[in-house]
Amino acid sequence: MIKINKENYLFILETPNTHYVFGIDDAGCNRHIHWGRKCPADDYSICIGSDESSNNTMLDEYKQEYTPFGLTMYRECDIKAQFSDQCREIQLAYCDYAADDSSLSVRFKDTHYPLEVVLNYRIFPHSDIIQRWTTVRNTGETEIRFERLFSAQFSLPSTKPYTFRNTNGAWGGEFVETATRLEGGYAMWDSRKGATNHGHSPHFIAAQNADENTGDVYFASLAYSGNFKVSASRDSFGITRIALGMNDFDFSHTLLAGESFDTPPVYCGYTQGYGEMTRQMNRFVTEHLLPKQFAQTPLPVLYNSWEATGFDVNEAQQIELAKIAAQIGVELFVMDDGWFGQRKDDHAGLGDWYVNPEKFPNGLDALIQAVNELGMDFGLWIEPEMVNKDSDLYRAHPEWTYHYRHRDACELRNQLVLNMTRKDVQDYIFTTLDTLLTKHNIKYIKWDMNRPFSQTGAENLEDPKMYSYLHTKAVYDIVDKLKERHPGTAIESCASGGGRCDLGALSHFDQAWTSDNTDAIDRLAIQKGYALLRPTKTMRAWVTDISGINKPCSLDFRFAVAMQGALGIGGNLSHYSSTDLEICKKNIGLYKQIRSIVQFGDLYRLLDHDTDEVSLNQYVSADKKESVAFLTARGTRFYKKKIPICFGGLDENTRYTLTFQGQTYKKSGAYLMNVGIAVHIRGAYYNEVILIQAL
Ligand code: DGJ
Repeated sequence: MIKINKENYLFILETPNTHYVFGIDDAGCNRHIHWGRKCPADDYSICIGSDESSNNTMLDEYKQEYTPFGLTMYRECDIKAQFSDQCREIQLAYCDYAADDSSLSVRFKDTHYPLEVVLNYRIFPHSDIIQRWTTVRNTGETEIRFERLFSAQFSLPSTKPYTFRNTNGAWGGEFVETATRLEGGYAMWDSRKGATNHGHSPHFIAAQNADENTGDVYFASLAYSGNFKVSASRDSFGITRIALGMNDFDFSHTLLAGESFDTPPVYCGYTQGYGEMTRQMNRFVTEHLLPKQFAQTPLPVLYNSWEATGFDVNEAQQIELAKIAAQIGVELFVMDDGWFGQRKDDHAGLGDWYVNPEKFPNGLDALIQAVNELGMDFGLWIEPEMVNKDSDLYRAHPEWTYHYRHRDACELRNQLVLNMTRKDVQDYIFTTLDTLLTKHNIKYIKWDMNRPFSQTGAENLEDPKMYSYLHTKAVYDIVDKLKERHPGTAIESCASGGGRCDLGALSHFDQAWTSDNTDAIDRLAIQKGYALLRPTKTMRAWVTDISGINKPCSLDFRFAVAMQGALGIGGNLSHYSSTDLEICKKNIGLYKQIRSIVQFGDLYRLLDHDTDEVSLNQYVSADKKESVAFLTARGTRFYKKKIPICFGGLDENTRYTLTFQGQTYKKSGAYLMNVGIAVHIRGAYYNEVILIQAL
């Protein structure tokens, strides 16, 4: 519900457990008032400043919803622009608002120049997540050039320092978490690589005295896959502010007369504890952001050929793999890189999306038909935004890549990035993919992107510093158009594993490839970081042959880790013994039984691989009748043998049954959550999948 106090110009966004409150002061300036637990609505008011001094100005001290650059405001701003007469200050004054039960737009105008800024908010039933974004409009005759255009600013209530959780990852080590206590100054997490990538995440999680179940946790995630910036600060008065949006590094956007622009949205929330944060976001993204086609459908178990066959694919070998995959229960067979053009390794072929006739003399359809006859759907890898110099496409259109005439084009993995801001490039990519999907029975596309951008802008002269936004938008638009024309085909965002899986990507793609690192122990950390603010169901997790020299993880252990997301198999099945194949079959059968709980349930992180040596993650169905917990021990020390484990998320008054370590328990939810059961951890790499069912 949105409550508006028209006399005092106060806006209260009320969600089931929180209030988000802001208002307009006497000068027409937007002022943030409160975010967190609910208070009586009549108590809210704007704090009147009275101690303006030459060195500490009130403007600098205000908590604001959206801060323009200029006047005596010296801290971080959210919007910075230059008007046609070179003026670079913006002075916003309240104009009016429009609201209904779930959305609110508050309009401000510059006091002199033809600029309108609208702050937009949306709330959702049964959720504490709030959507925010900003609209700017040029209502004049001359252009306005923006140098910064963030989506939203947040001010946190406590004057004590907050600890920020973000990621400091790299390829193969994605979503590795960091904790930064911000006592003063600035902290920043961003991407300058053209797209979101393996380094930082486009979100903030700011907490005080928090653990999984308690403490104040404020969070917001930007739904955008281009260059982003999350900038947090704490001033000398103890106020912590965070701004999120398109990165202003190498950015400018010109708004011509009459034009308007919507920033990418941000989704934010306040919860008690990190666990509830994850559960709220998981439910929200699945319900409201994921493309509708597959959002409510359990994802199939897939097989992917990459780790088995690399670039060296051919019809006979893929059919052989497909036969074994079908036997163990795989539902979707995906052929990865290597099937097209002159692709023998990573030096050639990208851009030439026709099937390689030597590898597939009977075309793609012979393989697809064989896969279909085995009872599986067929999926295909493609990397549409890229081109190798050694390709027909590059020879025909060298000008289609990002480039500067007098600079060398930087190749990474021997490939260049196509300039997706060009209409002809967009048309080529859409037509190529549309033709592939029209001609062949392809039910799944793995859309890869294996390098960051460079030499950006040459062919995009009108708005060169918007390339990252325009490229991102082109990708989203093509994916949306493909989905409209081929509603039965799911599309995965791959990006070298974990490189583009922000909430923007997940508003268009159905799922993401989490990481090329499939080492089960490393995956415990990678998957934890991924699933903090992203839905479990989108997290593709494969069982592969990487069992690690120093980490002899059994096949069962690897399954116990991969089953905590959308399960896939990536090992070379042709080399598996009949015993191994039986283990695969058993686990895939089990996964099919529990996947709805994992993919749609609530996650409880009960024990942590880093702090507890043992990881225990439990998923609980929405009706609390079914639950599954995965116990995976990284290794235990100090003769630790028996540990009591308590479960989470169950109904206190319901009786449940579970069988574990040869013993069957029939206990109430209250007992399982508060007393728990003692388990014997039998050494390193011990693992168990525990099924809990209401009696
Ligand atoms: C990177 C992906 O993450 C891998 O799974 C695989 O598809 C390769 N690219 C293929 O080049």
